[in-house]
Amino acid sequence: MSQDSWLLEVLRCPQTHDLLQQKGDLLIRPDGQSYPIIRGIPSLVFPAASVGEDAKWQRFYDWYAPIYDFNERFLGHILTGLDIPKERVQLISLLGLKRGTSILEVSPGPGVYQKLIRGHIGNQARYAAVDLSMGMLNQCQKRNQELNVALVHANASHLPFADESFDALFHFGGVNLFDEPEGALAEFVRVVRTGGIVSWGDEGSSSSIPDGWKKRFLTRMNPGYLKPRPPIPKGLSNIKQLEVSGGYGYLIIGNKSTS
Ligand SMILES: C[S@@+](CC[C@H](N)C(=O)[O-])C[C@H]1O[C@@H](n2cnc3c(N)ncnc32)[C@H](O)[C@@H]1O
Repeated sequence: MSQDSWLLEVLRCPQTHDLLQQKGDLLIRPDGQSYPIIRGIPSLVFPAASVGEDAKWQRFYDWYAPIYDFNERFLGHILTGLDIPKERVQLISLLGLKRGTSILEVSPGPGVYQKLIRGHIGNQARYAAVDLSMGMLNQCQKRNQELNVALVHANASHLPFADESFDALFHFGGVNLFDEPEGALAEFVRVVRTGGIVSWGDEGSSSSIPDGWKKRFLTRMNPGYLKPRPPIPKGLSNIKQLEVSGGYGYLIIGNKSTS
């Protein structure tokens, strides 16, 4: 992480929000608690051993990371009829990102949106991405090295950043799985500056998708489709709730109204 000096300015202990000092491959809290930097990726996971749903999905995505994108594009297309790369372009274009917007992407998976997001914000804008799966972050490193995204290993419900660190936050596809979805959404608002963009979404089939074998198969493969959406967190205004991915997903976009 030597090239990301700005990252050290905004990184905080995920538990106490204390400033951290880098010494070699460690990030150290004032009381001596330290976090490792693993192959250039700061690992700031709290709690150190994930629990409940987080533990289950962390294990699953570490295993699934190398084949995730292939399966999404091909199996996703067979099941939904959607052109998945086109849907991704459309999704990112809804966020209202401008050149220079600094952004935190939460749960990037293997980095399927990173080229698109860079295209909107430009090469100079600060861009960090946080995932609980080191396997997924390793895929981001492999696929998107030239995009200069600062990768951080952390839990979405305990983000290791100072308040108001970013102009925008984008998350898609994990909130159905989180052990503490409401805590994560409160964290999303905390780390964005007042007036900035907070956006998140996931799968969740709308009533416009007909009942039938596809819907039954999808919900069996991914029970997240049936999960109730967590309530919209406090501190947002101008909230838009959109159907995306041909009705198989939703996206919520708001502006942070209070600090
Ligand atoms: C279905 S994938 C979504 C990937 C990508 N955003 C997309 O839309 O294709 C879910 C991602 O959420 C991550 N994830 C699951 N639980 C998490 C948590 N508690 N904190 C951060 N990331 C988490 C997984 O590791 C995985 O990368």
